[in-house]
Amino acid sequence: MPLLDNKLSKPIYDIKKSYIENVLQGPCFENSYPERIYKDKRDWISFLGFSLASPLGVPAGPLLTSGWIGLASKLGFDVLTYKTIRSFPYAGHPTPNVVYVKPLADSDKVIECEKEPDTLENLSITNSFGMPSMPPLFLQEDIAKAKALLKEGQVLIVSVVGSKDTGSLQEDFVRTALLAKEAGADIIEANFSCPNVQSQEGSLYLDPENTKAIASALTKALNSTPLIIKVGHFEDPKRQKEILISLSRAKVQAVAGINSISKSVLKEDGSYALGKERKVSGVCGSLIRKNALDFVKLSKKIITSEKLDLELIGGGGIALPFHFDEFLESGAKLAMSATGMMWDPLIASKWHNK
Ligand SMILES: Cc1cc2nc3c(=O)[nH]c(=O)nc-3n(C[C@H](O)[C@H](O)[C@H](O)COP(=O)(O)O)c2cc1C
Repeated sequence: MPLLDNKLSKPIYDIKKSYIENVLQGPCFENSYPERIYKDKRDWISFLGFSLASPLGVPAGPLLTSGWIGLASKLGFDVLTYKTIRSFPYAGHPTPNVVYVKPLADSDKVIECEKEPDTLENLSITNSFGMPSMPPLFLQEDIAKAKALLKEGQVLIVSVVGSKDTGSLQEDFVRTALLAKEAGADIIEANFSCPNVQSQEGSLYLDPENTKAIASALTKALNSTPLIIKVGHFEDPKRQKEILISLSRAKVQAVAGINSISKSVLKEDGSYALGKERKVSGVCGSLIRKNALDFVKLSKKIITSEKLDLELIGGGGIALPFHFDEFLESGAKLAMSATGMMWDPLIASKWHNK
């Protein structure tokens, strides 16, 4: 593989700016759009009733608004996920929201790097946003706009999260999912895992009873609109099996994993990189690729042995085109890149054209 293919580009998200500045001014993409080579339609993929030109996608995160969805669509990603929304406006965490990290020897902690890494292979970051959200009126219009930008063979997922701040967590999940559905989402993804919020919704995916209750309420309310549940990293394989069985019983159509993994993020001097208020945050990129592949392999095994009616979406650390294949060959129906596509927006095009 030519060395150039392992180099970082200027990221589409400006990590020096705030989330709202990126919403209003981004995405940053100054190259020309790549030419797309399509497969014969007979070789397209059938996914939850949609016909997809390829199994490549962007998970919830890098695509902040319709402008970003439109960019990813032109760059050859066929499964576009609108960043997690709430039923009310929410500012999220202050900057910094993204810093480069590297592993700390003999520890599960990571250290902030001042400079970006030399290669995509070594690209890991922590992202800490706390799921900011634009107001519902903005979202209604903007999700419809995003949908209108998609091409044939592409699908729009909108990621949603509930909150207890408005009363019942379950009711707020349903309210937000219906907002997304009515605005035009093809598929809803409920985020049951966010390492950057300390409240219950951040680790729902580890709680089989609440997972089943909230997922059941969502599938009932969404009716014919398919539901994906996004999960995080499982330390315990037994828990992973229990959760997948709960999701299938709740008639969820697909499971997506993994979210970023919660870790302590330190500066070289031992202080917390994001300040004392945020001692841990979600780490993603190459440092979690092995965990993500293990999640896919075990989930595939469980889905097959338990005969669960669940589609599997995999991602975590995909930064080079062949990483997509590793996930697809391990049993994922779709493979998604977040961190990788931010620093190499041409990754999907390189995969299509290989
Ligand atoms: C900048 C950024 C923002 C993210 N925001 C969300 C989010 O709002 N909701 C969510 O479910 N996951 C979010 N994620 C997690 C990704 O969807 C993905 O699960 C994780 O980053 C692992 O993939 P990666 O290694 O390709 O980045 C975010 C990731 C990044 C990099």
